[in-house]
Amino acid sequence: MLARPIVFGNWKMHGLREQALALAGALADRAPRLTGTLGIFPPFTVLHEVARRIQASALWLGGQDCHDRREGPFTGCISAWMLKDAGCRAVILGHSERRRGLGEDDAWVRRKAEAAIASGLLVVLCIGESEEEWQAGRRQEVLARQLAGSLPEGANAANLVVAYEPVWAIGTGRTPRPEEIAEIHLWLRGQLGRLLADGERVALLYGGSVKAANAGAIMAMEGVDGVLVGGASLDAEEFWRIYRAGGGA
Ligand code: PGA
Repeated sequence: MLARPIVFGNWKMHGLREQALALAGALADRAPRLTGTLGIFPPFTVLHEVARRIQASALWLGGQDCHDRREGPFTGCISAWMLKDAGCRAVILGHSERRRGLGEDDAWVRRKAEAAIASGLLVVLCIGESEEEWQAGRRQEVLARQLAGSLPEGANAANLVVAYEPVWAIGTGRTPRPEEIAEIHLWLRGQLGRLLADGERVALLYGGSVKAANAGAIMAMEGVDGVLVGGASLDAEEFWRIYRAGGGA
């Protein structure tokens, strides 16, 4: 069971070597020990060096994607075993920027997640409805489909975290109200309970325009175990404040 709060920073396609090491170093220096779970997900190219820079800290390191095979003729791809080899403990899968931007479907996300679990990584599985789906009242239908379709075989509360990320909230400065997030998380917990033996214990994160100013209210909600942070994770001070706002020390 991961210690709460769980605060993960998805750097996306940001971070040249110098900048990445400075950011990771600033966080590592604050986090020799942690009461919660704080992790960073830098681009592949800097993983090895960042792993070295943070090795004396309690920070988690993760990758932003992986392939569904261990190795082979897959130009440009990175396997879960390569992420492990680089020092990662987790991987983000099913992010909407890959589902929508790069055409990844549920079945493909599920296969990647199964490979990640086989390699020993923690899977951070992202799901979320688009603005049109939300406005058409189809949120639960979409989330249920994504969850059932991309949930890996062999998933349990020890190797899976689910991140609810409404597409319309990512990078927009808009978020659902904290009470609405709590309601969705409660519903998702029920769904996970039906799909997995220990599904009710799977950690649930909220993601989409989280910053220090709203993180406390969101993480104070019952059923919210933490947050997945994009833009605001690129500033060490802001990212640390988010972690503290969730009760982390
Ligand atoms: P954001 O991104 O915090 O910049 O909105 C969140 C995410 O995509 O995980």
